Amino acid sequence: MMSRSRIAAIDVGNDSVKALFGKADYELNIPNVIARDRADRPVIGIEELNEKDPVDGIHIRVHSPALQDNNAIYRVGNLATKSDNAMELDPGSSKSEEDQSLVMLFATLALDAVRDQNANQFKKNNNVVDASYILGTGLPLREVKEGKDVGFRSQLLGSVHQVEFLVTPKYQGQKVNIKFDEVKVYPEGFAAFINLVMDNDGNIINRDLIDKQILIQDIGGLSTDIAVIRNRNVDDDRAQGFNLGVSESLEAIREEIRTKHGVELDTRRDVVDIITKKNDRNHIMVKGSRTSVHDITDRILLDLAKKEYRHLRNVWQKNSQTEICYFVGGGAMVLKEYIKTLNNNLDGYNIDFFEDEKESIWMMANAYYKLISDFDRKNNKAAAQDPKEKKAAVK
Ligand SMILES: Nc1ncnc2c1ncn2[C@@H]1O[C@H](COP(=O)(O)OP(=O)(O)OP(=O)(O)O)[C@@H](O)[C@H]1O
Ligand SMILES: [Mg+2]
Repeated sequence: MMSRSRIAAIDVGNDSVKALFGKADYELNIPNVIARDRADRPVIGIEELNEKDPVDGIHIRVHSPALQDNNAIYRVGNLATKSDNAMELDPGSSKSEEDQSLVMLFATLALDAVRDQNANQFKKNNNVVDASYILGTGLPLREVKEGKDVGFRSQLLGSVHQVEFLVTPKYQGQKVNIKFDEVKVYPEGFAAFINLVMDNDGNIINRDLIDKQILIQDIGGLSTDIAVIRNRNVDDDRAQGFNLGVSESLEAIREEIRTKHGVELDTRRDVVDIITKKNDRNHIMVKGSRTSVHDITDRILLDLAKKEYRHLRNVWQKNSQTEICYFVGGGAMVLKEYIKTLNNNLDGYNIDFFEDEKESIWMMANAYYKLISDFDRKNNKAAAQDPKEKKAAVK
């Protein structure tokens, strides 16, 4: 059986990881939360192990020279959310230098590699899967500007990384050795632009957009990035990042619903559903009565929308020849109506949103997918013409 490398496009967002694999035949979305743990986490019942989705019970040991804390054990994603020692990234941290980013990255890859569907793709001996990937991922512009992408990439390329599934449904006892044939680290803002102008086969779409000066304001969970695109490239010196995101506001709404109505919502995602659902938006059930929480959501989200709008205005003023600003990220979904209303009443900039949450939230992952697939296609083409070149290119 031949062992080939598989394409992986992974956006390690502060709020959640989004990943696309292979011919986009598999995707994962995992909350970016980890918690240190012991090897023998108590399991409630054997059913939990058999019936639960592995993705909801990720419990792993991670071995990699790239980690500061090598061989540590973690709960990851939904399982970690419930821990009292859950770690989420804080806004000031560097993605390229945190173990958390790497743990999330390796866990995501291992969850793809270990699947039965990949039995033909990767070699497996005694519960050890040998997986190799061609990875496309990204870092915030700020970190790329500081040159941190170089070290990040060579750490990944330089060694084999191992994920061992401990008390994880379905995969307990399996190990995955991850090695990379190639790693591409793209600046996040540039990636968003690529997604706008390139299709999955590497063709240019949106020809009218390609030579315009545009802004892309990405409102994430913990951060907002505004990229300036000129001459088909991100203008590093003009791009700006802010430690402002929607997570805090969603948390504030949840807290206020709890104190005011005595209703405990489980997750931020529940809050998102209440604000964005088509029917009965901004209403919850309180003791069986339909109750409006519009006052709470309006005040908190309008406040955040104003802050986001101020950033837009600042960046637009410094880049006066901008033709359009696109809002992307989960935050854009939540704040869309508020930002539109502010804009109508204030400056009237040419701004646009994406209707589809898949397009808005998966923007980065889609872009990495297009870029890494394009790279792979060209690489294979070169190899077909000259077999020696392939070896060189893969190195
Ligand atoms: N379908 C959705 N509709 C609206 N909001 C969503 C949706 N999914 C997630 N969100 C919320 O939007 C926020 C940002 O999500 P997003 O995935 O864009 O952040 P991220 O990329 O992980 O974070 P960052 O960009 O800061 O690294 C999260 O707080 C999330 O709860
Ligand atoms: Mg993001």
